[in-house]
Amino acid sequence: MKNPAGPVAVRRHYLMCRPTYFAVDYAINPWMDPAAGVDRDRAIRQWEALRDLYLDLGHEVHEIAPIEGLPDMVFAANGALVVDGRVYGARFASAERTPEGPAYLEWFRAHGYTETREPKSVNEGEGDFITLDEVVLAGTGFRTEAAAHQEAERFLGRPVVTLQLADPRFYHLDTALFALSGDRVAYYPGAFSAGSRKVLEALFPDALLATEEDAAVLGLNAVCDGRNVVVAAEATALAARLRAEGLAVHPVEMDELRRAGGGAKCCTLELRPPRE
Ligand code: ARG
Repeated sequence: MKNPAGPVAVRRHYLMCRPTYFAVDYAINPWMDPAAGVDRDRAIRQWEALRDLYLDLGHEVHEIAPIEGLPDMVFAANGALVVDGRVYGARFASAERTPEGPAYLEWFRAHGYTETREPKSVNEGEGDFITLDEVVLAGTGFRTEAAAHQEAERFLGRPVVTLQLADPRFYHLDTALFALSGDRVAYYPGAFSAGSRKVLEALFPDALLATEEDAAVLGLNAVCDGRNVVVAAEATALAARLRAEGLAVHPVEMDELRRAGGGAKCCTLELRPPRE
């Protein structure tokens, strides 16, 4: 729904994990090349700039302690899915990331979340679930199993729409699509199967369709609070279109973390409190 006075920001609550132990020493997506190495200090600086930007925008940021030996733990979006204060835990597809699931659930239990669920099905948290006002969009094809979509639907009591991902570069839903508001999205159509493209066209006739160039710099791995959009600095065409819609664009340098296949959204898990 368009607000006649222009887009309105809503204060968000985020959970992040400092990339203290960030590395690329295994490859579980096409972006990762263990031979190329990473500049960890640079990754930390980019992550700190992202966190500070959220704070400047008025959001609340919690931090979970990083664990040595879990280099991808910085990608907090994968740690859980939190809707109405209910926490659907993650169960990772790869052995390398498996310990992150219990580690994130532990954080929630220690921080007063009583409605938590250890998942039966493989799912990589908010990386594959995008929560809108009426539905939750859910990706499958590379990581999260479709059975997890049903498990999340039953646990959260929100309708979940399954979308088939089709391009290995965009292995999580949040690399291909982001929410501009509670009922509008931006996405790169080429990341989806033909059937899921039709579903998206039917659900969101007014969606912003991004180009392959924007997707290839993980520009769709963006975070929007309704007015401000935090987006990869290289996604210039996308940024121009967002500005043209009256949104405030905040470009962020994420290239060091992108060596692991992640961007701003991957580093950000939204904590959605119970609905009033
Ligand atoms: N290296 C990580 C992996 O492949 C990157 C995760 C990115 N997270 C995301 N929400 N897309 O699992």
